[in-house]
Amino acid sequence: MKILVLESSGNKRGSSNLLAEAFIRGAKENGHEITEFDVIRADIRACLGCNHCGMNGSCVQKDDYETKLKSMIKETDMLVFVMPVYYYNWPAQLKTVIDRFYSFTTELTNMHKKAVLLTVAWDDTNTVFSVVEAYYRRICEYMQFEDRGMVLGGGCGTPSMTKSSGFVEKAYDLGKSI
Ligand SMILES: Cc1cc2nc3c(=O)[nH]c(=O)nc-3n(C[C@H](O)[C@H](O)[C@H](O)COP(=O)(O)O)c2cc1C
Repeated sequence: MKILVLESSGNKRGSSNLLAEAFIRGAKENGHEITEFDVIRADIRACLGCNHCGMNGSCVQKDDYETKLKSMIKETDMLVFVMPVYYYNWPAQLKTVIDRFYSFTTELTNMHKKAVLLTVAWDDTNTVFSVVEAYYRRICEYMQFEDRGMVLGGGCGTPSMTKSSGFVEKAYDLGKSI
């Protein structure tokens, strides 16, 4: 299966990418084909809501989303959303990736992709992931993605905290289970 891993932290060697790395290792061991895409370092602009695309056409913005990422999303079987929690929510650049589904929402919905969420936060409380998880579940439902699992890494505020948290192993196990 083709797996597209969407990373969204400015910290290339940070905590969320540690989970991504472990997930990728597990998935590769099972023979899956992985592509990584760093949304933070790409030119991905906000949806203008101009409706030029009519939810089924080309976007007026000829940025990395329209010229590269859109076709990568279409071609993959699974999307892996990798993110640090920012103010109890998805980081803006990854949310923008979702907003830009707009130009091919119906087409993408009909493709029935699989999805995974890998996320980290400093806090280790019951509520830190509530919005992040609810939004992920709602997007899976709306876009008809099949949720194949989540790693919600509480208490993962730094790479060293993350390495001893047990969540890196959980991400590996999830990759291995795919
Ligand atoms: C802008 C910003 C907002 C953050 N908001 C939260 C938050 O709401 N709750 C939390 O527990 N941690 C929060 N954090 C901490 C990060 O989620 C945490 O340090 C994470 O490990 C960073 O992941 P990374 O190394 O992949 O960038 C925030 C960090 C930043 C930079």
